Amino acid sequence: MQITIRNLNKVYSGDVYALRDVSLDISEGMFGLLGPNGAGKTTLMKILATLEQPTSGEVLVDGENISVRRREVRSTLGYLPQFFGAYPQMTGSEFLRYIGRLCGFSGKALKESVEENLIRVGLFEVRDRKVKTYSGGMLRRLGVAQALVGNPKLLIIDEPTTGLDPEERIRFRNLLSVLSRDKVIILSTHIVGDISSTCENIALLSHGRLVFRGHPESLVDQASGKVWQAACDEEDFGMISEQMNVISTIPVEGRLLLRLVGEPVDGFEMQTVPPNLEDAYMHFMENVVGEHVEEEAGVMED
Ligand SMILES: Nc1ncnc2c1ncn2[C@@H]1O[C@H](COP(=O)(O)OP(=O)(O)OP(=O)(O)O)[C@@H](O)[C@H]1O
Ligand SMILES: [Mg+2]
Repeated sequence: MQITIRNLNKVYSGDVYALRDVSLDISEGMFGLLGPNGAGKTTLMKILATLEQPTSGEVLVDGENISVRRREVRSTLGYLPQFFGAYPQMTGSEFLRYIGRLCGFSGKALKESVEENLIRVGLFEVRDRKVKTYSGGMLRRLGVAQALVGNPKLLIIDEPTTGLDPEERIRFRNLLSVLSRDKVIILSTHIVGDISSTCENIALLSHGRLVFRGHPESLVDQASGKVWQAACDEEDFGMISEQMNVISTIPVEGRLLLRLVGEPVDGFEMQTVPPNLEDAYMHFMENVVGEHVEEEAGVMED
């Protein structure tokens, strides 16, 4: 499957530019869309899921324009919205049967599809419990199950791990990894850890613009030599944190052990450490993108 996004713009009423000239190619495996709150992730996903129309630009799925061939494209995709809710009085199994019927299944095929997807997401044991008794993680997995009914080739998943505990987050990540063997999965998140171990390709959105696309490793490379470790006294923390981005602070024997991104502050002993994706994301958004946005603001003021 080949998804081609060309010069996509989305302007909501009130002159809100949610997407600005976004072009992107996505094919096989798991693709991670990363960006802070309000970056435009949900807007892009809704357009891909054919639930929103772009203001301009186009999206092609295997060469077909999704705005024109909406019905055909819809039948090949599954979508888990950011705020997924299921009927609380239904059991997990009843809910999936309901979705299955909407997808045109009946009889034996419906029963098989419901069972298969409950097993896939690890909810078979709790299938007869009412949805209102499910935990956040179980509900999110039910959301994946409903997106899988119809056996889509493309799975669009918006912020699936927000609010999940670490165990559920890992479970969810593993579930998506298994599914990505025979599907394209587009996953949005503002949590770097969600994509660091699973996505071969990522894109970063900031203020509606695509500011990076490529392999996670090449983003990490850009932060090489910019990540530091230092121990400081509490009274120096304010000054350091004004000049560098603090990734973590660990109290050790009355002092603070800091992980920092940026240019080192004079007069403090700091050692460079190898960057990880979270450091690189921070470096990129604060420095590379920050400068770009400031430049743009300058141009607009002129
Ligand atoms: N229906 C709408 N009408 C007007 N503005 C909207 C609408 N939906 C989104 N926006 C605005 O568009 C921008 C992008 O929003 P979007 O929800 O796509 O971001 P996001 O990256 O998904 O954010 P989050 O991480 O908080 O989910 C924001 O400024 C938002 O306020
Ligand atoms: Mg969103």
